[in-house]
Amino acid sequence: MLLDKLVAIASKYASVQDKYSRIILSVCCGRSEAEMRSKDLCICLDVDKRSLFASRFAAHHCYSKNHNVIHHYHNMNDGIYDLSKKISRVTGKKVIILFQHPSPASATRSRNDLSSASFDSIRALADGHVSEITYVYDTNSHARSNCWKGRELLDVALSRCTDHLMESIKVTEPKLVCHVNSTTFIHPVFGSCERTGWSLLKIGEETYFTLTRPL
Ligand SMILES: C[S@@+](CC[C@H](N)C(=O)[O-])C[C@H]1O[C@@H](n2cnc3c(N)ncnc32)[C@H](O)[C@@H]1O
Repeated sequence: MLLDKLVAIASKYASVQDKYSRIILSVCCGRSEAEMRSKDLCICLDVDKRSLFASRFAAHHCYSKNHNVIHHYHNMNDGIYDLSKKISRVTGKKVIILFQHPSPASATRSRNDLSSASFDSIRALADGHVSEITYVYDTNSHARSNCWKGRELLDVALSRCTDHLMESIKVTEPKLVCHVNSTTFIHPVFGSCERTGWSLLKIGEETYFTLTRPL
């Protein structure tokens, strides 16, 4: 029911605002700093109410000319397939799923949520409701906190995929988005970006990979 309301709001935004050619479903959006600076319609999902509230406040008071962000309290393990399918059908726009800086915490629950959300997203990609899924993640950081190592995130993202599902998708090689200390970079979804939010806090090395459908 709540998701239906969200889809209805997204549809209203998308039809009123013809300027949006695509919709970014930002999973684990945090304060949505990069999303608010983008030119896309972004549906931002997180379970941290403080971040969502802070982001809504900033959207209204700091970015008042660009109402491009819809915030929604949502656990990523719950219904990403249905949500992306409905948004794609109702708006007729290209839908991209973005996982930006998913937590590298090794806690089972955290990894389970991420693998479940990834599985849902990959099914939506294979069924044509989503055009790509991009993961941007920390691979090295000044702060002495955890980072994703090697293929770890890719392994979590693909952990529930059957061989049959794997045949319906294409995985790009991980590529560097930015080096330690660089303050601007070319974001794989948003293009030229200044570091903001989590990224600015860490100023570490960031990497991305993308899942698409084979041509
Ligand atoms: C490291 S922060 C990244 C925030 C933001 N994407 C950025 O790049 O600045 C990870 C975010 O994932 C969110 N998160 C963790 N588990 C989640 C879940 N099960 N469902 C939705 N969001 C979740 C946290 O609340 C947090 O905001």
